[in-house]
Amino acid sequence: MNSLKNKNILLCITGSIAAYKACELLRLLRKEGSNVQVMMSESAEKFIGVATLAALSNNEVLTTLFPNNPKGGMDHVKLSFELDAIIVAPATANILCKAANGVADEIVSTTLSICDVPILFAPAMNFRMWNNEGTINAVKILEKRKNIIVPPEEGQLASLHEGKGRFADINNIMNNIRKLFNENLILENKKILITAGPTREPIDPVRFITNHSSGKMGYALAKASKEYGSKVTLISGPVSIPIVPGVKIIDITTAEEMNNKIEDELTNNTFDYIFMAAAVADYKPIEFSDKKIKSNDKIQNLKLEKSIDIMADTISKHRGIKIAFALETENGQVNAINKMKAKKSDYIVLNYANESGAGFNEDTNHVYIFSKKGSSKEFRKNTKLRIAKKILEYIVNNEK
Ligand SMILES: Cc1cc2nc3c(=O)[nH]c(=O)nc-3n(C[C@H](O)[C@H](O)[C@H](O)COP(=O)(O)O)c2cc1C
Repeated sequence: MNSLKNKNILLCITGSIAAYKACELLRLLRKEGSNVQVMMSESAEKFIGVATLAALSNNEVLTTLFPNNPKGGMDHVKLSFELDAIIVAPATANILCKAANGVADEIVSTTLSICDVPILFAPAMNFRMWNNEGTINAVKILEKRKNIIVPPEEGQLASLHEGKGRFADINNIMNNIRKLFNENLILENKKILITAGPTREPIDPVRFITNHSSGKMGYALAKASKEYGSKVTLISGPVSIPIVPGVKIIDITTAEEMNNKIEDELTNNTFDYIFMAAAVADYKPIEFSDKKIKSNDKIQNLKLEKSIDIMADTISKHRGIKIAFALETENGQVNAINKMKAKKSDYIVLNYANESGAGFNEDTNHVYIFSKKGSSKEFRKNTKLRIAKKILEYIVNNEK
């Protein structure tokens, strides 16, 4: 379940130099299916334009308690919808102190003082403001009232000083918003590497060898992993499906390129889980013709060699729980378990190419998962996103 879908969120932007970062937060919330209305303090308008936020939210931006043409009634603020949550991002020292003390002297503070929904503050400020006793006390009071504070991070500030005050990482803020809606983030603080899609092994400048693969299963795993709170890197062959917001995507074409990018990623990072969902071409032409091969000859003999075995040769040498995929047409279980052993993976996910509603190009899948410890489970036909979530839940539970 995506806990952000159809949620009504008020995004309050206050006058911090980090105000522009609220655009990315707004974009991600909308991508997740939330309805967002933006409210801005007067100072925030000095940093970022109403037109941008109206366009990104597809909604009216509220900027004043006293519009020129007030609507009837005694409501202090006319929102577009019943609220599920308020996100104050970036939150200034000023708004933290006002909210903690019940001050209601402009639109944002007035709204915070009258709305009875969960509130999350993502502060951003100069380190001296964050360390100011007034701010420290305000944060304590707000936390005591069960508001969520996503603390700013340590690092270089806009003033070029080092210190605590940087607007938190957007993925961290998104995870905290998910938690606000009681989402169980089973992969919080985990790093996941996923491969997806086909590879292409060139014959000449216009032809190549490839496998059928839409990349949908790998992309579904990336989306599900991100929704469960992890940081995801996706190494993708050529596909024609939309990117997954909030996921680092590295595009490759050949098996060798995929192997090199994986090697780079595994050398520079420690991943908790590695999913090898790509359909890597098993064979590649021994020779590449840099000129187009003419079609005059009746027979062309193409000499092939095995392409690199990424799972066995590269991934198995690194840390992390490894999950291979097997697409079979017959003897699925035996072939998949043999493949898991040969590739030294911890799990293998089996699906069938000759089953309708499963395998490559389909939006749904029907899979079996086997672990090297001997456990197994079947996940009946469902959307690839649901199957991806079930696979992740199964593995996380197994590894407890
Ligand atoms: C260039 C500039 C950058 C600022 N950046 C911040 C900031 O990052 N965080 C903060 O708390 N205040 C910052 N301020 C101060 C606030 O804008 C000021 O306290 C203002 O009154 C906040 O009003 P508001 O909370 O209603 O938006 C900045 C001011 C200026 C002029």
